[in-house]
Amino acid sequence: MDGQLLKMIEEGLVEKILLESKNPHDPVIVKNIPDGWKCIGTGNYAAVFSHATCPGLAVKVIRENTEDLKKEAKVYKQLGDHPAYSKCFYHGPNYLVLKKLKGITLYDAIAKGIRIPASVIGDINEALLFARKSGLNPYDVHAKNVMMKDGRGYVVDVSDFYKEGKDEKWDDFVKAYQKIYLKTLYKHPVKIPYKVLNFIRHAYRFYKNLKHKRSQKRKHASNLSAYHRQN
Ligand SMILES: Nc1ncnc2c1ncn2[C@@H]1O[C@H](COP(=O)(O)OP(=O)(O)OP(=O)(O)O)[C@@H](O)[C@H]1O
Ligand SMILES: [Mg+2]
Repeated sequence: MDGQLLKMIEEGLVEKILLESKNPHDPVIVKNIPDGWKCIGTGNYAAVFSHATCPGLAVKVIRENTEDLKKEAKVYKQLGDHPAYSKCFYHGPNYLVLKKLKGITLYDAIAKGIRIPASVIGDINEALLFARKSGLNPYDVHAKNVMMKDGRGYVVDVSDFYKEGKDEKWDDFVKAYQKIYLKTLYKHPVKIPYKVLNFIRHAYRFYKNLKHKRSQKRKHASNLSAYHRQN
């Protein structure tokens, strides 16, 4: 990457901004955004910025220096070129320079009452299948991590695709899209307040944790009774 541009990113942005976190399950809070830079999104670990002079780029800055960033860069390498994904051009100690995706997240689309067409869901399903074929495990795919633009779907956050295990967020979203969304908001789009969406997000996490704990308890009880039967 161009040295001047890197200097502008490192000295002009990364060294100046402050990222705070009040709750690990809520997006980071960004302070001290330097002139010329705009925050285009926040997640629980990172904030993403763009600059008017390089509109095709998005700079993702993470809260802490972690090994995870290296893994995210590696995921992009493994994905290669695919129209539904961004690309990683460079990775620094606590930031990545990515291709900026256009459009809005599905979370924002629901909040703003913008209709989500089925083609978007189809594109994302296809992109996740592509990731699996590339040896990755689509993980943590939720409404803030996918975007749409002109009826096409995109996956904007691949940071957890190296993880193992099954993550059901996207499957659950698709089920809710088919069973509820298509019959309601798709037909009559209305704005849903962020407070309501945030409540649903937290309630969903609570329900999933409870379900997981119950299944662990059941597994433990059945292991214990098998042990007693053998001894
Ligand atoms: N390449 C990109 N182009 C445009 N917008 C982006 C890009 N990458 C991230 N964003 C925006 O920034 C937000 C936060 O980025 P991202 O999801 O990568 O952060 P994160 O902290 O890893 O998220 P999570 O909490 O899901 O782990 C996204 O929801 C999206 O709105
Ligand atoms: Mg994210």
